[in-house]
Amino acid sequence: MMSTPEPPPAPESVDVPIVLRRAEAGDVPALVALENRVFTADRLSARQWRRHVGNAGAAVILAVRGEALLGAAVVFFRAGLDIARLYSIARAPETRGLGLGERLLEAAEDAARTRGAARMRLEVREDNVAAQQLYARRGYAPIGRRDGYYEDGADALRFEKRLDEAMPSS
Ligand SMILES: CC(C)(COP(=O)(O)OP(=O)(O)OC[C@H]1O[C@@H](n2cnc3c(N)ncnc32)[C@H](O)[C@@H]1OP(=O)(O)O)[C@@H](O)C(=O)NCCC(=O)NCCS
Repeated sequence: MMSTPEPPPAPESVDVPIVLRRAEAGDVPALVALENRVFTADRLSARQWRRHVGNAGAAVILAVRGEALLGAAVVFFRAGLDIARLYSIARAPETRGLGLGERLLEAAEDAARTRGAARMRLEVREDNVAAQQLYARRGYAPIGRRDGYYEDGADALRFEKRLDEAMPSS
């Protein structure tokens, strides 16, 4: 997905912790608002979010501070298939540098393991350096590309990680 330029970090209330939890139907308006702040194209609609949140074949994981939604990740599973798919991951622009992308990705991988997946796959825009750095840090390796994958015709790189192997220590 294409992301918007990021504003400088806003002062945050440091005493309220950021926690991860599963999304519920009532989170859909906040998910749509987050999506509109983060992405300029390939956005998920309220209808798509409702479908994902209510879908037993998906996990929608949120990062929240109090009432504020700061990030989200969506993973898909398919019965009988040991490959999970990271469909979307994003954190609010003002949370850059807090490691939220990493926390969300780790939670997505845990959810996939719990569902019996041995591998996680994902697509990422070729020009999305921040996301590719995150995936490389967490042990994802390139497995190919999809030409013209995004709405604006941009190509996607495909990455995969084995979930049943320990991360190499860095
Ligand atoms: C991809 C994403 C989830 C990664 O989150 P993250 O790993 O928590 O990223 P952080 O905010 O901790 O930043 C880690 C490092 O990535 C790099 N980075 C982050 N955002 C960047 C940007 N917009 N441009 C260039 N580098 C960036 C920086 O090196 C940054 O460290 P620094 O801020 O100390 O310089 C996050 O960048 C994001 O939400 N992007 C918008 C949505 C998106 O592109 N999602 C993936 C495709 S679906």
